[in-house]
Amino acid sequence: MAFTVSANFAIAADGKISSDPHRPSGWTSAQDHQRLLELRRNADAIIVGRGTLCADNMSLTVPNQARQPLRCVVSRHGNFSGDEKIFHSHGGDIHLLVTDASSSDFTRDGVTLHFGNLTDFFHELHRDQGAQHIHCEGGGMLLRDLLDHDLLDTLHLTWAAHTLFGGTNAPTISGLADGKFSPSRHFSLVEMIESGADGEIFLTYQRNDLTK
Ligand SMILES: NC(=O)c1ccc[n+]([C@@H]2O[C@H](COP(=O)([O-])OP(=O)(O)OC[C@H]3O[C@@H](n4cnc5c(N)ncnc54)[C@H](OP(=O)(O)O)[C@@H]3O)[C@@H](O)[C@H]2O)c1
Repeated sequence: MAFTVSANFAIAADGKISSDPHRPSGWTSAQDHQRLLELRRNADAIIVGRGTLCADNMSLTVPNQARQPLRCVVSRHGNFSGDEKIFHSHGGDIHLLVTDASSSDFTRDGVTLHFGNLTDFFHELHRDQGAQHIHCEGGGMLLRDLLDHDLLDTLHLTWAAHTLFGGTNAPTISGLADGKFSPSRHFSLVEMIESGADGEIFLTYQRNDLTK
C-alpha cells in the first residue's frame, strides 16, 4: 500500500483511554501534549471519530506551521451540528466520511463529504489529495475499525500509569467491550523513551507483517 497509517493514544494504568465514553480525556501531561503535536506535524491527514471530535472539542490544527494536514472525521450518519470547533477554526481542508448513509444534508464551505468505508476513503485521500501518511487520534471505535480493516502500520502510545481513568464502561483503544475482535494483531516495539513527566513513557510499535 502506498500510504502509511499511524495512531496515537494515551493509556492509563487500567488500560482505559478515558474515564467515560463521553468525557474528554485531555492530555496526561504537558509532554504528552507536545508529543501529540509532533506526531501531527508529520501527518498529511489527521483522522478522528465524531465522538472524539466532540468530546475533546478539537480543531485538528498544527500551531506555528504553514502546511496544515487535512482534517478528517468519521461518522456513521454524518450528524454534525455545524457548531463543532473544527468548522470554526482555520486549518487544513476538512473531509468528512459518512459510512452508513449515501447522502447527507450537511454542507459547509471548505468541507468535502465522502460516502463509503475507511479503506476506500484512505485510498481517495492518497489518490486525490496526495496523502502519504494518515494519522489517527482516536477514539477507540475508530481504531477498532482501522484494525478490522487491517490498516494500521504504527501505534504510538503514551503509557500514563500514574493515572487510573476507571469505569467499566470507559473505552480502551479498541473501543468498548462490545463484541468479538479477530484476528489478533501483532506489533513490535521500535522505540521507548521517557516522556519527562513523572512515571510516563512514550512507546512506538510497528506492525510485524508489513505486507498489508
Ligand atoms: N486517551 C486518548 O489518547 C484518547 C484519544 C482519543 C479519544 N479519547 C477519548 O475517547 C472517548 C471517545 O471514544 P469513542 O470510542 O467514543 O470515540 P470515537 O471513535 O472517536 O467516536 C465514536 C463515534 O465516532 C464515529 N465513528 C468512529 N469510528 C467510526 C467508524 N469506523 N465508522 C463510522 N463512524 C465512526 C461514530 O459517530 P456517529 O455517532 O456520528 O456515527 C461514533 O459514534 C472520549 O472520551 C475521548 O476523550 C482518548
